[in-house]
Amino acid sequence: MKRKRGKWETLDGVLNEIWKMLQRGVTHSIDPFHRPVLGTAGKDGCSLRTVILRQVLLPDRILVCHTDARAAKVQEILAFTKVSWLFYHPKRKVQLRISGHATLHTEDEFAERQWAEMRVTSRLNYCATRPPGTCIDRPMSGLPDFLFKKLPTLMETQIGRSNFMAIAGRIESIDWLILKPLGNLRARFCWDNNELSSTWLIP
Ligand SMILES: Cc1cc2nc3c(=O)[nH]c(=O)nc-3n(C[C@H](O)[C@H](O)[C@H](O)COP(=O)(O)O)c2cc1C
Repeated sequence: MKRKRGKWETLDGVLNEIWKMLQRGVTHSIDPFHRPVLGTAGKDGCSLRTVILRQVLLPDRILVCHTDARAAKVQEILAFTKVSWLFYHPKRKVQLRISGHATLHTEDEFAERQWAEMRVTSRLNYCATRPPGTCIDRPMSGLPDFLFKKLPTLMETQIGRSNFMAIAGRIESIDWLILKPLGNLRARFCWDNNELSSTWLIP
């Protein structure tokens, strides 16, 4: 009888599992893939920060996160559009290192749709009166008084719209690694436009 091949035994199987894990990361807020690290290149080297994975668009291979348009990362992406994403799933022991070019969206239909679907509490992230990273003389959120310590209405959070930005990162390569007691496995997937080349690697 022919043995059924496990999902990690073929490159197609691995890639299929990667898409599933990323999509689960979007929809499950307690999944470790919900909070990747986004890396950008700045004048002092690379800068890293945790973000929330908001969308995975397939077959276009786009990862989406949201940010305040006044944040430092935005200036870095404007200067150098290549970004990296790091995901690690401690239970499944899977690491993904993803890289590709990012586009920034503020006033287009893409950003508008994301803003329209956002929860009121998430919209608060864009309502600070001063830009993220501004020095202040005491600890505070920077929210205006009328939004402070209460659940705002949808209308009240509209002041955050002009600060809201969606970052869309196109996946151009994925370095996949799984830790296994009897030997780790690693593979790389690269797209040249839509042409995929994939290979196993020594971990
Ligand atoms: C769990 C968690 C999730 C976060 N999600 C986001 C996010 O989706 N977008 C964002 O801009 N910052 C998010 N942050 C804050 C960033 O890590 C970072 O502090 C902030 O964006 C400023 O980074 P920058 O100065 O490099 O722009 C999150 C932080 C944590 C701890």
